[in-house]
Formats: sequence, structure tokens, C-alpha cells
Amino acid sequence: MLTIFLSVLVLSSTHQIKKARDNVRKFPDEFIFGAATASYQIEGAWDEDGKSENIWDRLTHADPCSITDCSNGDIADDSYHLYKRDVEMMRELGLDFYRFSLSWSRILPTSFPDKINEAGVQYYNNLIDEMLKYNIEPMVTLYHWDLPQKLQDMGGWTNPYIVDWFADYARVAFEMFGDRVKYWITMNEPREICYQGYGANTKAPRLNIKGTAEYMCAKNLLMAHAKAYHIYNEEYRFSQGGIIGITLSANWYYSETEADIEAAEEAVQFEWGQYANPIFSEKGDFPPVMKEKIAAKSAAQGFARSRLPEFTPEEVEYVRGSADFFGINHYSSYIVYRNESMATYHEVPSYYDDLNAVIYQSSEWEHGASDFLKVVPEGFYKLLTDIKQKYNNPPIYITENGYSTYGGLVDDDRIAYYRKYMDAMLDAIDEGCDIRGYAAWSLLDNFEWMEGYLERFGLYEVDYESPERTRTPRKSAFVYKQIVRTRELDWHYEPDTDVMTIDEGY
Ligand code: BGC
Repeated sequence: MLTIFLSVLVLSSTHQIKKARDNVRKFPDEFIFGAATASYQIEGAWDEDGKSENIWDRLTHADPCSITDCSNGDIADDSYHLYKRDVEMMRELGLDFYRFSLSWSRILPTSFPDKINEAGVQYYNNLIDEMLKYNIEPMVTLYHWDLPQKLQDMGGWTNPYIVDWFADYARVAFEMFGDRVKYWITMNEPREICYQGYGANTKAPRLNIKGTAEYMCAKNLLMAHAKAYHIYNEEYRFSQGGIIGITLSANWYYSETEADIEAAEEAVQFEWGQYANPIFSEKGDFPPVMKEKIAAKSAAQGFARSRLPEFTPEEVEYVRGSADFFGINHYSSYIVYRNESMATYHEVPSYYDDLNAVIYQSSEWEHGASDFLKVVPEGFYKLLTDIKQKYNNPPIYITENGYSTYGGLVDDDRIAYYRKYMDAMLDAIDEGCDIRGYAAWSLLDNFEWMEGYLERFGLYEVDYESPERTRTPRKSAFVYKQIVRTRELDWHYEPDTDVMTIDEGY
């Protein structure tokens, strides 16, 4: 604990010295800036114009107070009706791109392509066209957690048929929007989908079936991702000319002491290597350490086979290389240790028992409103350089990074977070990491999953008391705008206005 803590302190003070010397830092010429959101978190209109129920509608309606403030996304930011205001905000910020997700059950109310909901398609057409009018590139996530409930009733991501269900849905999206969308992301954060939704109870569908369901989900999700990639690659890439990748949640894992270095690396392999290794490594497949550990534990526990499903050699090849870029959502870092007490620490069987380590965060780290959001910018640098080294320097888009508060327009702590994390990212770029773009999470406050509307991530504050869901720029919006406009990180810039305008050209 002490070793890691001291090394973090030493490293961050070298960063301080550098910052003091280097007040204004330039972003590369081709670098693009954006902001991100997700369908369930902002759209509302949960049952309007033919949309059917998804797993978040079901969870929030069946068990309202499983959400901290007993709220739901029925109306959320009402972006279904207020999308023009959202685009206006993108123009105010001068964004190059905007990352949003499609609601599967809005486009395909039966979950399948037998019936395409025209009103749902129209909504996304309107949004995309409005953005393109002002040269704002759409970056579209196909799946950001809102699975049609019907598919969940049939096992959701644990049912291998989902590979086809997802591929059929992806094809409809390419067909409908691919003439104008040039950046596609298949999945947002597989770890959160599989571990939190199936192996724990911290995201819908809250199955909490430990040590099995999350691994079945992982294999099916990777196959579904790969199938969508191959469809795009073979049927649409030539005529539509876009790129397609996947977004992983990737945190950094420090070892508590030197003795825990192996445990920390294994945590990396379990937490995001599980999804990165099959796609981005030279050999493909789940990380060897996961395969070995889970097979050994499963045998000792009396299972007939490893709880981690195997990929056949053909499947390994099918998934390997199935992304044009590595999308990264990064918020924070963790500390890892392993000792004798592990044997009784975790439930058996479970994912964390398989990893056989404890992951935690230092209570001394500065933090935002969200429990997990500790401010450790150096971890971002470590993560990015580790990805460069492990996977042959893939093109990277930071598809989410941001900070939570409990609200308020003067958000200096959010501004400090953005500056520190962008500074760490620029250090990684200086090391040769191929980072091509950055999206702030989030354009505006939104439904923060199990935390409802309590934790706020927006550059714009949303007034949930007003029927118009009034959006007001926070101080951080002015600072981000300045970064986007100048393509520079200036530690001393102070906005001299609180009146937001649209600059010429937007
Ligand atoms: C998710 C977002 C979420 C954000 C902040 C990411 O894990 O993709 O949907 O709001 O983190 O918690």
C-alpha cells in the first residue's frame, strides 16, 4: 500500500513540475474532440411512437427504488423531443463529433428485423441530419446497455443466438444510417454488461449468477461484436467508407506492494484484457492466465468443464482483429493485492475468486460524487502506454472520460479533472500512443444508472424540475469550448462570461 502510494505521489509530483514549465500544450493537428451520451440515459419517450420495453425500463418500473433516488429514464433529458437543443449545445461547444447510442427496442420493437419502426428510425435520421448540417460527425454506439426485454427473457447475452440477433440489428443500423455515419462502435463496456449485469447486481438485468453467467455473456458478446464487424467489413465498408470498433471500460490497476505486481497484471487481464486480448492481441482468444486459472478452479470445484467457455480455433480467428480502433472509456484507477486470506475473501465460485485478488481504491485519493471516481490521472497515462505496448499501438479513441458532482454551475473540480486527464493523455501521445480523439462524458447531465439523477456528469446542467428540461452550460462547458477552439490545454484559462454563444462556422 505504502509503496504504491509513494510511487503515485512521486510520479504525480514530476507531472506537476512539467505542468508548471509547460503551461500551454498543443493537441495534434488531426485530433478530434467530442462529447458522449447514451440512449436510455437521455432520450426518455420510453414507450412513445412504437418503442418497446428494454431491460432498464423493466428494472426501473418493477423495482423503482433499486435506483438510489427511485427514478427512471421514462423522460430523462427528453432528448427524443429536444434533440435540436442538444445539437445547438454541440455547436456552442464547437464539437467535431458527438457519440450517442441507438435504442434497439426503438428501432426494432419486436427485437428482430421483421418490423422496422419508422418513427424510431426517423428520430435518429433527424438527429444525424441536424448534426451533419453543422459538420458534427456522428459516432454511433449500437449497444449501450438497453437490451430489448424480450431478448432478456430468452437469456439475453447468455444465449448464443444473440450473436445472430445482434448481427441482424447491426445490419439494419448500417442499412438505415451508414450512408451518413462513419464511426461505429458495436458495444459499450462489455465488462459492465457481463460482470455487472450477469455476475453481479449492479446493472440491469441484475442476475447475480456468479462465476458462470458473466463468462457465457463474454464469449457471446465477443462473437456478436465480431459478427457485426464482419458484416460491416464485407457488406458496407466499401460503399459507406466508415470504420468500426468497440469501446472497453479500461481502468488502471496498481500493485499494492512489489509482491502484488503479478496480481495487478492479472487484474488487468481479467478486467479488460478479457475483451481486449481476443480482439487486439496477436494470438487472440481469452488471456492465457484467465483460461488457466478458471479451468483449474472449475476442475477443483467439481465442474464438468471450465466455467469459462472456450473459443474454437475458427472462433479465435473470427474475433481476432475485428476492430478498426480501440475505444476506451476511462475514469479511474485501483490498487490490487493478494495474500493468504484470499481463500475465504470472495464467494465461491465467482469472478473475483477466480482472479484471487482484492481490488480497492485509496481513501486518500481525491474523488468525485461517484464512489468509483477517484482522481488518478497518472493511471490514464499508464493505461494508454500499456495498451500501446501490448497490442502494437492500435488507433485509440477516448470514447468517455469525465467527472461527477452533485450539481452546480461552478464546477472547478470537474475542470481540474479534465485538465489533469487530458494532460496525462498528452503525455501518452508524446510517448507515441496513437490517440485520435477524445469525448467528454457527458454533454449533459443524464440518468446515471443505479444512481439516478443524483450524480451529474454534464458539461451542461439539466433542470429536472422544469418540463423543458432546461440545459444550462456549466463553467466546464466554457473551458472545454476553449480547448476545442484553440486545440490547446491552457491551465490558466478562466472564462470571462457565462453567456454561451455559437462561434462563427458552427
Ligand atoms: C458508462 C456511462 C456512465 C458513465 C459514468 C460509463 O461506464 O458508459 O453510461 O454514465 O460510465 O458512470
